Amino acid sequence: MSVNSERKWFSESRYGLFIHFGLYSVAGRHEWVQTLEEISVADYQKYLDQFDPDLLDPHEWAQKAKEAGFKYVIITAKHHDGFCLWHTKETEYHIGKTPYQRDLLGELIEAFRQVGIKIGLYYSLLDWHHPDFLVDGYHPMRNNPTYIEQHPGNMENYRQFMANQVRELLTSYGTIDYLWFDFSYKSRDWGTSVGKGAQDWGSVELEKMIHEIQPNILINDRLDLHRGVLTPEQFARSKAMDNEEEVWETVQTLNNSWGYDRDNLNFKTSEMVAKQLVDTVSKGGNFTMNIGPNARGEWDDNSDSILSSVGQWLRKYGKAIYGAGLSSFTPPQDCRYTQKGNKLYLHIFSWPYRTILLPELGGKVKFAKLLNDGSEIRFVDTKHLGGERKATTNLYKEITEVHVKEALDPSMLMLNIPIKEPNELIPVIELTLKEEEK
Ligand code: GLC
Repeated sequence: MSVNSERKWFSESRYGLFIHFGLYSVAGRHEWVQTLEEISVADYQKYLDQFDPDLLDPHEWAQKAKEAGFKYVIITAKHHDGFCLWHTKETEYHIGKTPYQRDLLGELIEAFRQVGIKIGLYYSLLDWHHPDFLVDGYHPMRNNPTYIEQHPGNMENYRQFMANQVRELLTSYGTIDYLWFDFSYKSRDWGTSVGKGAQDWGSVELEKMIHEIQPNILINDRLDLHRGVLTPEQFARSKAMDNEEEVWETVQTLNNSWGYDRDNLNFKTSEMVAKQLVDTVSKGGNFTMNIGPNARGEWDDNSDSILSSVGQWLRKYGKAIYGAGLSSFTPPQDCRYTQKGNKLYLHIFSWPYRTILLPELGGKVKFAKLLNDGSEIRFVDTKHLGGERKATTNLYKEITEVHVKEALDPSMLMLNIPIKEPNELIPVIELTLKEEEK
């Protein structure tokens, strides 16, 4: 999918927050717990009876998200277990029937909107609670012949149910900026059952209805229609898309689980998260990071501190991320470029000793500065000096002969960086390009 002006906000945002919250948060061992442990709907009921996130403050979540630098949010309205986070009229299986009772989805939408964060809703195409959903190899009851016999599946009914729910979501909460379906698996074949795709979901009709209700909404690519925002999952692309106009976001977790997973402490560091974010933006994509709040409705300490430290980094370096993207210049080793107009941002993943040589930039840079403190970075630009050995005189006499040779290549620009690396998750040098070089 490519950009049009109504949807430009998305690519300019660059950093989004995924929130996975539902009955599985009470189990606290992965959002797929129901099917991983083959739990029946009757046995899963205990999580509904216990669902009471009493410490949850939607405004606090929104404020935290804003301070952490997120520009849009994607909230799980319904996940694969079929539990709905809003007061839907289409099923009794919703938050109004838990001890918590409140319409959390509505309150979250309102709170996030109030702090200027765009609203995305996640809606699961799979539904392990709906009696008409045809049992397949992902279903918790896949090994239960009695259930299968009693539930032969009626996907026509299920399609109608989904269409009604999606209509309800799009007509009850004002503008929804992004709808995030999950997921199609047409090619799966378990022998006794097969996967599901566009025909099973009624994707064409669904998409048409969505656009009739909210024409400017973005939709992701998981309806099996081969269009929409591309969403590579827990995967780092090695290069930009062949079609650079393609809109994409990579969705990532902090510890490999989307839902709260108490005993899984396999957390990324904040440096790794910041590097993933930069790497993604340098390839022209968005980066969406997940949080799985706990059953009391709080963000666990690990997630909280990682996200807030990336947020601190963004406070200084946001200008190199928001509204920025792919650059046509080739970055030096262990670095990434992001670019916005005539500002080229050099993100230094591994701090080298004293100099960095920038290919292709000879004669093209007007000014260079470190972004952490705004201080000037001096550079040698032999193109500017007419390619003469002037660069070696006085000012640059500390440069070794080898460097002089490289620095005298007029296509190169040589930055003189401090020996001591700034104490930042990722140090960034802002290069102001001469106007004609953008
Ligand atoms: C997957 C999983 C799911 C998660 C989603 C987020 O497809 O099924 O649990 O919500 O990815 O991208």
